Amino acid sequence: MTHRQPWATAPLLNTLFLSPKDVAAIVAHQGVAATLMGLVTAIREDFLRWTEFDKSARLANHSQDGVIELMPISDASSYSFKYVNGHPKNTALGLSTVMAFGVLADVATGRPKLMSELTLCTAMRTAATSVMAAMALARPNSRTMALIGNGAQSEFQALAFHHLMGIEEIRLFDVDPRATAKLINNLQNNPDAAKLRLMVCKSTREAVAGADIVTTLTADKTNATIVSADMIEPGMHINGVGGDCPGKTEIHPDVLRTAKVFVEYEPQTRIEGDLQHLPADFVVTELWQVLNGQKSGRDDQGQVTVFDSVGFALEDFSALRYVYDQALRIGLGVDLDLIPALDDPKDLYQLIRPKTTGRATPTSPRGHTLANRAMPMKEVQIMPELV
Ligand SMILES: NC(=O)c1ccc[n+]([C@@H]2O[C@H](COP(=O)([O-])OP(=O)(O)OC[C@H]3O[C@@H](n4cnc5c(N)ncnc54)[C@H](O)[C@@H]3O)[C@@H](O)[C@H]2O)c1
Repeated sequence: MTHRQPWATAPLLNTLFLSPKDVAAIVAHQGVAATLMGLVTAIREDFLRWTEFDKSARLANHSQDGVIELMPISDASSYSFKYVNGHPKNTALGLSTVMAFGVLADVATGRPKLMSELTLCTAMRTAATSVMAAMALARPNSRTMALIGNGAQSEFQALAFHHLMGIEEIRLFDVDPRATAKLINNLQNNPDAAKLRLMVCKSTREAVAGADIVTTLTADKTNATIVSADMIEPGMHINGVGGDCPGKTEIHPDVLRTAKVFVEYEPQTRIEGDLQHLPADFVVTELWQVLNGQKSGRDDQGQVTVFDSVGFALEDFSALRYVYDQALRIGLGVDLDLIPALDDPKDLYQLIRPKTTGRATPTSPRGHTLANRAMPMKEVQIMPELV
């Protein structure tokens, strides 16, 4: 953890950098439940301002084993983007399936004011978004959840549904028993989950049977059928998180056909969600319209609802502004020397200007010796006409 002074008096150019340790320190400082609730609040506030945002489906570069995506969004005052990948085979190499970082910038000047890790933040904002959707769509008396896929995202979903949605029992299944053992170990050693009952199941079917909510969190770059129509019971809410890329789905189209389907940003989900298997005229509802009361959510206790989650840029915008505010409040992070500090903003060349006798070494408003950050003197050819 790096302690720092609040930024009120900091120079205009500073970019705050938050590492995974800093974000973890925010969670440690205020507790996991309060952090997840803070994220739900931030995301809900921004979903209620939906029409104020300049939105687009994310830009995806696909390769054989994965995808790398850029997720930009802005309102009148702030702009953000996230860089994120999805490589299901990464864990075999010792790397995470999902890795991310992002930037929050001032629209008025373009100044990047925050650069933050977003791997941990993505897991938390995804869990917060899942709970926000379930609060609006699942039966309010839901107490049991099936959690299919027990990898990196799973603890966050379990804790969010336990603390914020009142889930008391989670039924676990993963094709990799070590992933389930890891999840159980993490939750059993967490006082925040002391009252949560965990049941290991032998199959998805066994885990789903009798559950009020079904969360699918698997990673496999294929059109998988994790949940099929014959597993679904009246009144269930499906929180489909792992199907988030063309050719990477989890929920059989027949489940969607018999359910009421909700999405984040329809143009993106049509390409990336489980919805990709259905025709363009299949009716879905954007979540923000349920949150602001424009459209209905669940219509009756027996209806099956599906949140076809893919992850939308607005959730990362909310997460970035949330961790930024918390970091300033607590005093976390370091100043990142990302943008050149210039005595004269039209004189960018000062950064590489050769040091000559009789001329003072230029210093930045932050007191750095600019020459120290330029090319080493011995490598610079001083042209007579420039001296
Ligand atoms: N919608 C969103 O906003 C969002 C955000 C983050 C991650 N995701 C997606 O969520 C998924 C999980 O991410 P992660 O970081 O936990 O990945 P991970 O690789 O850490 O874990 C995925 C788990 O799924 C298990 N799995 C694979 N196939 C399975 C099957 N058929 N049945 C049961 N389990 C199976 C794997 O064994 C693994 O333990 C990924 O597909 C990721 O792209 C979506």
